[in-house]
Amino acid sequence: MRNKKDKLIDERKFREVLLATIPYGIDIVDKNGKVLFMNKKLLSIFGVKAVGKKCWEIYKDNKTQCVNCPLKKGVKPGKTDVLKSEGCMGGKIISISHTGMMHDGDLAILEVFSDITKEKEIEEAKNEFLSMASHQLRTPLTGIKWTLEHLSEKEKFTETGRKYLDNVFSCVERLNELVTLLLSISRIESGNFKASPELIELVGFIEKSLTEFQPICEKKQVICSFAKHPGKLELKIDKTAFGHILRNLAGNAVDYTKSGGKVEISLEEKNGFVILKIQDDGIGIPKKDQSGIFGKFVRASNAHTLKPDGNGLGLYIVKEAVKLLNGEIWFESEEGRGTIFYVSLPSYPQLQK
Ligand SMILES: Nc1ncnc2c1ncn2[C@@H]1O[C@H](COP(=O)(O)OP(=O)(O)OP(=O)(O)O)[C@@H](O)[C@H]1O
Ligand SMILES: [Mg+2]
Repeated sequence: MRNKKDKLIDERKFREVLLATIPYGIDIVDKNGKVLFMNKKLLSIFGVKAVGKKCWEIYKDNKTQCVNCPLKKGVKPGKTDVLKSEGCMGGKIISISHTGMMHDGDLAILEVFSDITKEKEIEEAKNEFLSMASHQLRTPLTGIKWTLEHLSEKEKFTETGRKYLDNVFSCVERLNELVTLLLSISRIESGNFKASPELIELVGFIEKSLTEFQPICEKKQVICSFAKHPGKLELKIDKTAFGHILRNLAGNAVDYTKSGGKVEISLEEKNGFVILKIQDDGIGIPKKDQSGIFGKFVRASNAHTLKPDGNGLGLYIVKEAVKLLNGEIWFESEEGRGTIFYVSLPSYPQLQK
């Protein structure tokens, strides 16, 4: 029969083995920043024994950790209070999660370090490939489009021939759209999607952009209206990012609205924010699909009924563009009744990045 003492020793041994073999670096830091414990793996990451020293002396080349210092941010004890950060240490990329805990009646921080260098390298290689492939695809596509335009204008076709030509044309348009989306994604993921703010007059900008949608609205018989804001509305903003937001949201509103439906776009200025509202009375987003809808390649279960060939990338780009502009995005939607997307952007340039 094992007694109580044996069981305690077993548990301690188990903890020791676990901490010595786990592929994560682990330490415990007291409320004054003194390192109380570190495991073998952490020693191999830092190459320095840290116990008894202040953490900022040891982790000083990890700027991110110091900026995001959980001690400064006031981590509270408890499992749920986990702060995550990423940084470089000794040529490695490390992800750290900090959890508040109690030690000898005082607050301490449990830090778990994982080496994500490999994952980051793979991600970078993937982004490079995506960027190169989309750039390479763009040139022949532009050539095909140009040739098709010339063929259509300069040559004579039978009625059936023109139908085939239109078909090829719309396929090329779709390919072109997809390549543009992939290029934007590769820019986002490689961190090259940067804001270059310039002063734009929103009312004029929106009116001009919406003319692009006129042909598709007419074809689908969807009425698209813009409730003009009284007067000019100027914003120092990145034009490309704002264009992505507007085009994707308005495009979706038209795409997911049935023939005879309505899309209404409006602007409002409120408490230092400009709010862009895009409302439609289309098919809506089912409740069960709403929480993940901004994810990459995500489409709602009813999307194919009106648009069988969407990519599920537009909203992901919109979300990243809104983030870049320091704004917020949210929506209300009911299946079968319609959707409203709201984007709020700070109207003061100093609030923007
Ligand atoms: N206004 C809307 N009404 C109904 N569903 C919408 C609306 N806007 C977005 N959705 C849903 O969100 C999904 C994601 O939209 P997103 O624009 O990212 O992709 P997509 O339209 O499918 O394809 P693409 O990347 O070519 O734009 C859509 O597939 C659709 O299910
Ligand atoms: Mg879309």
